[in-house]
Amino acid sequence: MAGTLEWISATALEYRITLMLVLAVTVMVYFMTRKRYKLPPGPRGLLLLGNILAIQNKSLFRMLIQLEKKYGPVITLNLGPIRTVFLNNLEVVQEAYVGKSVDFAGRPQTFSGLAFTEGGKDIAFTDYGPTWQLHRKLALRALKHYMKGERFQDTITEVMEAVTVEMGTETGLFDIYSYINPRHLQHHQFSSDNEEFLNVCKALDIFSQETGNGFAEDVFPPLRLYPTAKFRKFMKLNDEMLDFMYKRINAHRETFIADAQRDFTDAMLIAQKEAEEEEDQELLEQITNTHLGQTVSDVFGAGLDTSRQTLYWTVQYLAAYPEVQAKLHAEVDRVLGERRVPMLSERHKLPYTEAVLYESMRKGTVAPLSLPHSTTCDTTVAGYEIPKGTMVFANIFAIHHDPRHWKEPEVFNPERFLDDSGRFAPKSESWMPFSVGKRACMAEALAKPELHVVLASLHEVF
Ligand code: HEM
Repeated sequence: MAGTLEWISATALEYRITLMLVLAVTVMVYFMTRKRYKLPPGPRGLLLLGNILAIQNKSLFRMLIQLEKKYGPVITLNLGPIRTVFLNNLEVVQEAYVGKSVDFAGRPQTFSGLAFTEGGKDIAFTDYGPTWQLHRKLALRALKHYMKGERFQDTITEVMEAVTVEMGTETGLFDIYSYINPRHLQHHQFSSDNEEFLNVCKALDIFSQETGNGFAEDVFPPLRLYPTAKFRKFMKLNDEMLDFMYKRINAHRETFIADAQRDFTDAMLIAQKEAEEEEDQELLEQITNTHLGQTVSDVFGAGLDTSRQTLYWTVQYLAAYPEVQAKLHAEVDRVLGERRVPMLSERHKLPYTEAVLYESMRKGTVAPLSLPHSTTCDTTVAGYEIPKGTMVFANIFAIHHDPRHWKEPEVFNPERFLDDSGRFAPKSESWMPFSVGKRACMAEALAKPELHVVLASLHEVF
C-alpha cells in the first residue's frame, strides 16, 4: 500500500513538473514570437487599471495638451486593458484620418456599443465595412435630397417664425435656452406625437449627460454577465428611443407615396423598396427594419445634441462679448429689414453671422475628442506603430486651440474668419468641428446652413 502511494505521488510530481515546463515554454515562445510594436509613448499606468484613475473627473482633452509637452503629439493611455492612442495636433490627425483614411476608419466594437445598436446596425458606431458604406451612402443621398427640395427651407422658416413669435411675447428677462433647444425647435415638426417625442428627448438628454466615462462592462468583461445598474438604465432608455423610431417608420410606411418623398425616413424606405423590387437578397439583408430604425435614430441623436450645444456656446459668447453681439445685430438688421427669418440662399450676405458661428464652433468645440475610431489594420502615425484594432481619438479641442494655427486662441474673435473686406474667408485645415476623413460628420453640409438661419433669426432678441 505504502509503495503504491509513493508511486502515485511520484507520478503526480512528474506530471506537475511536466505541466510547469510546458507552460513555461509556451509563455517563452509567446513572448519571443509576439510581434513587438514601437508604440507611441505615454504615462505609465497601474496594473489592470492602466491610466483610468489618473484621468477620472478631468477634462481629458485639456490634460492631453499638457501631456503633449512631455510625450509629443501622439500619446498612448491605457483605459483598463484597452490601449488607446490620442492624436493631438493637426499634422498627425491629417496623416492618420486623411492620409491613411481607411486604416483609421474603424469604430471600436465595444460591448455597450453593440448592445445599443442591436449588433452594430447603425452608421455612427458600426465598424468600417460594406454595410457601413452602404448606410452612409443611403443616408447622404437622403440628406442631399432633403436639402435640394423646398422642404428644407419651408420647415426651417416655419419653425423659426413660430419660435421668434413666441419669444416676442416674453416680457422682461427670459430663458433663451428653452427656445434654442432643438427639442423645442423640433417639437413643431413632431407635434402629432408630441409627448412621446419629448420623452425621447429626455432620454437623449440623459444619454448625453450621464454616459460620462462610459460603461464598466466594456472594460471588465465579467460584469457583462451581471450588468451594472447604470448599464441596465441605459438599455431601457435605448429601447424607449428605438421604439419611438420604429413607430415613426411604421407610420411613414403606411402613408408612403413613392414620388412624394417627405423626409429622411421616406428616403430610407425608398432604398428598402428598391432592394425589394430588384429582389436583391444580399442588399435586403443590409436594409432590414432594424437598420432603418438605427439609422433614423443615429441621424436624430447625432444632430440634436451637437446642434444644441453649438447654439448654447454661441449665445454664451454673444452675452460675454457685447461688441460682437452688436455687429451681428447690425448685419442681420441691414440684410433682413422687417423679415424675421433669412432664406438659405442669403447666407453669403451675412458673413459676420457665419464668422460668429465658425468661431463658436472653434472655441466651444462641442465634440472635443470627436467619436472614437479604431484601426482596421496594423498601421503607423508619426513613425509610431499602431496595431490593428487600437482605439484612436483625435483631440479636436487641442487643434482648435493650437497657438501655431490660431492667434490668441483663447480670445473669441469672429474677425479671424473674415478677410480685409469683411468677406467670409475661413481657415480650411485647422477648423474641424465635424472631424475629417472617412468617418467625418455626415451632415456638415446640412448643419451649417441650418444653424446659420437659426442664429440670424434670433437677432431680434439680442
Ligand atoms: C453642429 C453640428 C454637428 C457637429 C459639430 C457634428 C460633429 C460630428 C463629429 C465630430 C462626428 C464624429 C466624426 C469622427 O468620428 O471622426 C460626427 C459624426 C456623425 N454625425 Fe455629426 N455633427 C453635427 C451635426 C450632425 C447632424 C445634424 C447629423 C444628422 C443629420 C449628424 C450625423 C452624424 C453621423 C451619422 C455621424 C457618424 C458618421 C460615421 O460614423 O460615418 N451630425 N458628427
